[in-house]
Amino acid sequence: MIKLENVSFKYENAYVFENLSLTVKDGEKVGIIGESGCGKSTLLKMIAGLNIPTSEEINVDGEKDPEGIIKKVSVVMQSPMLLPLSIIDNITMGHDHDEERIEKIIEAANLKKWTDSLPDGLNTYLGDRADELSGGQAQRIAIARAMFKDAGILLLDEPTSALDGENAASVLEAINRFTSDKTVIHVTHRREHLNGYDRIFMMKDGKLIEA
Ligand SMILES: Nc1ncnc2c1ncn2[C@@H]1O[C@H](COP(=O)(O)OP(=O)(O)OP(=O)(O)O)[C@@H](O)[C@H]1O
Ligand SMILES: [Mg+2]
Repeated sequence: MIKLENVSFKYENAYVFENLSLTVKDGEKVGIIGESGCGKSTLLKMIAGLNIPTSEEINVDGEKDPEGIIKKVSVVMQSPMLLPLSIIDNITMGHDHDEERIEKIIEAANLKKWTDSLPDGLNTYLGDRADELSGGQAQRIAIARAMFKDAGILLLDEPTSALDGENAASVLEAINRFTSDKTVIHVTHRREHLNGYDRIFMMKDGKLIEA
């Protein structure tokens, strides 16, 4: 369960939100929509343990501190962060892996066609050229990383914004398959990406309103 009770957050002076509450039950799929700049990413980063609330506390699957929370969540952030490592290491973050499972994840994240076309495949070193990947390639690596981590809670911030319609649809379908028994919070500008979700909130003026 995720529970935020009367949490507030400000970057410098102005509050992005104040006294915001949200409870998400295990296995629930929750969508958040809202205008650009309303605070969706700020909120998601708080649930991921990356933004510390300026008041009150949060509880993510029993964890209240960032170090504990980070272990419980898989995150696909709005701007994927790639490290100067190979593609495979960017997905596994150095953890042991099973080839068969990786193969499934590569296919699910629509990475196979591209990685198969590279001379070194998944071992291709991104190095300092991580910036040269297309936004969609970087985003799909971030999705594969989240699938690999396989935490019980998946936090998605515009996970397919850089993908074309067809790619986005198939990756979203794969995400839905991977997360059928997980708790999901999905931020998006595209409400149609939230079909089948249990609850959808609109974020406005620092509040979440069921939409
Ligand atoms: N690191 C930061 N430092 C200071 N202000 C920030 C920072 N990140 C975001 N903000 C501000 O906080 C507010 C909320 O930003 P946030 O990124 O959460 O919006 P959003 O709803 O995710 O927008 P979008 O739909 O464009 O992604 C904005 O006014 C933004 O300018
Ligand atoms: Mg955002």
